[in-house]
Amino acid sequence: FDDDQWGVWRYSAALPFEEGVSLPEGGTPLHDVPRLEEEIGVDRLRVKHEGMNPTGSFKDRGMTVGVRVAKEIGVGRLACASTGNTSAALAAYGARGGMETLVLLPAGKVAAGKVAQASLHGARILEVDGNFDTCLDIVQDLAGMGEAYLLNSLNPFRLEGQKTIGLEILEQFRDEEGSYPDRIALPVGNAGNTAALYKCFRELVESGALDEDEVPKLTGVQAEGSAPMVEAIEKGWDHVERWDHVETRATAIRIGNPVNAPKALPGIRETGGTAVAVTDDEITAAQRDLAEEGVGVEPASAASIAGVRKLRKEGIVDADEEVVCLTTGHLLKDPDAAAEAGSEPEPVPGDTEGVLDHLRS
Ligand code: F0G
Repeated sequence: FDDDQWGVWRYSAALPFEEGVSLPEGGTPLHDVPRLEEEIGVDRLRVKHEGMNPTGSFKDRGMTVGVRVAKEIGVGRLACASTGNTSAALAAYGARGGMETLVLLPAGKVAAGKVAQASLHGARILEVDGNFDTCLDIVQDLAGMGEAYLLNSLNPFRLEGQKTIGLEILEQFRDEEGSYPDRIALPVGNAGNTAALYKCFRELVESGALDEDEVPKLTGVQAEGSAPMVEAIEKGWDHVERWDHVETRATAIRIGNPVNAPKALPGIRETGGTAVAVTDDEITAAQRDLAEEGVGVEPASAASIAGVRKLRKEGIVDADEEVVCLTTGHLLKDPDAAAEAGSEPEPVPGDTEGVLDHLRS
């Protein structure tokens, strides 16, 4: 890495450029969560909070590279399908690069904070009558017809930027105690991040910087109502079968056709990891538990904690493991979900006596 730099571009040696269209991104905290560590019962538990990126999700790491490429090629219009976070990141990085942006969102299924971001950063927003997978089908058609430059995670330059999550985790984790994590758990939607982490670790092994047995076990977590990757892992398939009907409170990962599965499935298998499905209630409980340690994340992010908790109970995660959970998006992305998971505000009169009475009652 480049010691003079911070964030994604600190790792430019692993990227196709020296610099990108930057806000800047990366350099996110690795939190300790002692109460969760104790309760779940692993040797060390850390939370890599990707919600602390400039637009509040890990997508920024991909966009700084992807939008730089788009500028380089001189394309007219940038486009993506999105469950929300990609659209917010594309809108912001497109604006930063002075480029036109178009986003396709599944109508009524995107959290309020994300639509607000895409809107204020100046994206043209199309609300599609269909789910995310339909949006991605359409935007791929548009890109194929030369109408737009595709910035979903099918774009390999996005994944290059997202590799830096892995590099940063290794550096931060090692700084604490000199070891690397045994396992990295992450929420899975399109499986782009899983593919990016796998590429990161494979490149490190091929360059001799990391031993094969030091590669963390990649562990994907999906919501039960939207779990085609888990199905493929459980059934030992080498492909994923598309789910036409998906539903979960974690709208960010409400995806039935994980397009990066061909790159991600080998990553999960070859690192000795696994995939697990969790219920919406387990996700909400984990979101609340993280919040009680001061770490505010959106529902999809909390799936990583819910998944590790479940795998620990099943004995698949061992008590002596050192685990990093990726939390991919910030609490404020989905204020409605946060309010539902949290406590109700209490109405009180507008005077001190009244407030004291209320507190004592
Ligand atoms: N967590 C959050 C908060 C996300 O927004 C996403 C994906 C994922 C996890 C899953 O990541 O697709 O790499 O497996 N959101 C995309 C979007 C689909 O449009 O914002 P993945």
